[in-house]
Amino acid sequence: MAWKKNKLELFLRLDSEYYEIVKPIIENPEFIKRKEYVHHESCSVFDHCLAVSVLSYLWSKKLGLDYKSAAIGGLLHDFYDKPWQSKDHKAVKEKGKMFWQKHGFVHAREAVNNAYLYFPEFMNNKIDNIIRRHMFPLNVVPPKYSEAWVVTMVDKYVSMDVFKSPREWPKYLGLSRKKNV
Ligand SMILES: [Fe+2]
Ligand SMILES: [Fe+2]
Repeated sequence: MAWKKNKLELFLRLDSEYYEIVKPIIENPEFIKRKEYVHHESCSVFDHCLAVSVLSYLWSKKLGLDYKSAAIGGLLHDFYDKPWQSKDHKAVKEKGKMFWQKHGFVHAREAVNNAYLYFPEFMNNKIDNIIRRHMFPLNVVPPKYSEAWVVTMVDKYVSMDVFKSPREWPKYLGLSRKKNV
């Protein structure tokens, strides 16, 4: 993971403005469940989303953008419902799905729906767009807002370890699962 876990924890303790923005989400039991969801390699969905959120917040602040929306959108960008990497999870059946029904194509929309379900008070057009368009260019419609561009770029940067090996790309893109999960 390009952004280490201990740095994230330290940042959470030191930047009280960021912590106040994301606190209701990162302390919500439904969001905490993502600590058990496997993301890329040895990283949980919780840690991945936190890394994307922190870096998107910092970059948006630097660029004079709406850093609050970037922080929240970054945190919720992969807030899809089921732990798709887990073969044991009965609700997740990737096998037999058509190519465009694979996780990589559908999880952004799932994350938007889930975000409206659990965190409606945070949702607005910009955060909706950040989540919905973060898989650009796999999902072909580009982001509409600058903050959504920041999040989609940061998401790719945070997943850099995966990019080093082309064989890992299908996992990043949500087109195949990790082995031995
Ligand atoms: Fe994603
Ligand atoms: Fe992501």
